[in-house]
Amino acid sequence: MTDLKKHWNTAYGNNEVSRLGWYEEDPDATLQLIQQCNLSKDARILNVGVGASTLLDKMVNIGFENIIANDISNTALEKLKTRLGIKGKDIQWIVDDLTNPTTLSEIAPVDLWNDRAVIHFFTEEEDQNTYFSLVKKLVKNNGFVIISAFNTDGATLCSGLPVFRYDKDMLAKKLGAEFKLIESFNFNYTMPSGDTRPYIYTLFKRAG
Ligand SMILES: C[S@@+](CC[C@H](N)C(=O)[O-])C[C@H]1O[C@@H](n2cnc3c(N)ncnc32)[C@H](O)[C@@H]1O
Repeated sequence: MTDLKKHWNTAYGNNEVSRLGWYEEDPDATLQLIQQCNLSKDARILNVGVGASTLLDKMVNIGFENIIANDISNTALEKLKTRLGIKGKDIQWIVDDLTNPTTLSEIAPVDLWNDRAVIHFFTEEEDQNTYFSLVKKLVKNNGFVIISAFNTDGATLCSGLPVFRYDKDMLAKKLGAEFKLIESFNFNYTMPSGDTRPYIYTLFKRAG
């Protein structure tokens, strides 16, 4: 097991999900961007580094039928799977490392790539390039990308790990001209401790 996987399994294994510093009870900002994509209920939606917050509960409630849940932490996915119970029966679960993807590189293209609070952990350019190559490999023409990350005014650490912070132009540059920015906004996330963390939320659409 890599040190990174151990780190995240320990974080999820030693804490109640609702006490984690990134836990979100109301993922409304992400849901608002998903709504803007106007996807059909059978759209393929890949949630990378999905963790165990409530987004997938809400997506299942909305009626999305083709959800893929990825994380490097099998503990996170097991907790989420247990909480969802029968509601999660149609979800495809993929334990894989975005910086060294194996199973993920083999999956069929997706209509939406969704990342909240994952990309900023990739501080090395090589890992960032691997991440964006996977986005470009997997997102269909006319598909969407939602990336929500610590913004350039944000904290420099999360979960004790250093982070690489973004603004919308940096994300646009990494994605390349084929991906058009549809929307972006700043969002102040309030942690369970009451501290806040400024995020940039972005929605891109790939050209057809
Ligand atoms: C700050 S948490 C955010 C979790 C979730 N997206 C949310 O909004 O609650 C970061 C997540 O990314 C996952 N992660 C970290 N590095 C990863 C990697 N290389 N590949 C896949 N997932 C990773 C962690 O296990 C963790 O669940």
